[in-house]
Amino acid sequence: MKIIMLGAPGAGKGTQAKKIAEAYGIPHISTGDIFRANLKEGTELGLKAKTYMDKGELVPDELTCDLVVDRISKDDAKNGYVLDGFPRTIPQADALTNALNARGEKVDFAVDVDVPDENIINRMGGRRACVGCGATYHLMFAPPKKEGICDVCGKELILRDDDKPETVGNRLRVYHEQTQPLIDYYTKAGVLHTVDGTQDIDKVFEDIKGILEA
Ligand code: AP5
Ligand code: MG
Repeated sequence: MKIIMLGAPGAGKGTQAKKIAEAYGIPHISTGDIFRANLKEGTELGLKAKTYMDKGELVPDELTCDLVVDRISKDDAKNGYVLDGFPRTIPQADALTNALNARGEKVDFAVDVDVPDENIINRMGGRRACVGCGATYHLMFAPPKKEGICDVCGKELILRDDDKPETVGNRLRVYHEQTQPLIDYYTKAGVLHTVDGTQDIDKVFEDIKGILEA
């Protein structure tokens, strides 16, 4: 099962992708997480990506496409995967389509987690991310068991640099300009499904399961 998650920054792509990966035993591949892990390790890719991420801009396609095509060629991705945050531009979607076509494969489901901009702004301020493993929480909607501490690895929870209000506005603008056109792209490919991402986290997941198991 090859699934891609679409949706604005903060729509809940990562939250749902993690649940899908657990429920169906497939890897969760998040380009944002890959860039953040690289930054933590101080790699050249991480440092390059940071200059774009901090401004809420997209990392250039040439740094992104090969990385994902390599990742989905790994052994653990043989039975499928859930891509979170990729593709984000038409050239990225074309790169994915071409890589899959070359192996006689295709995307099975493109799930658009739909949340209006007003809700996004409120959500981002409450998100907390673990400095250790990157797990995400929300102060109101998905709090950790112990305040400020990651349930998974016990490290500290922080507000991501790009979740500051001044950057969130730019991320939304970039989303509407460059990523929203993918909704049309995957509608034409006949694989687009939309879920109402303003519902609570478990209800959104129920709806996604309904789509994947229909
Ligand atoms: P990335 O890490 O992908 O960030 P994003 O797309 O902006 O999305 P987020 O991770 O912010 O949101 P999400 O949809 O995963 O929401 P979450 O589940 O956390 O990318 C970061 C940057 O990297 C980009 O800006 C770009 O620079 C670069 N980049 C990454 N991929 C790239 C690519 N392909 N090309 C170029 N550049 C790329 O949920 C948000 C919050 O809401 C959480 O606190 C969560 O607990 C809460 N929440 C979730 N669902 C609900 C719900 N139903 N109700 C209430 N609260 C909820
Ligand atoms: Mg995410």
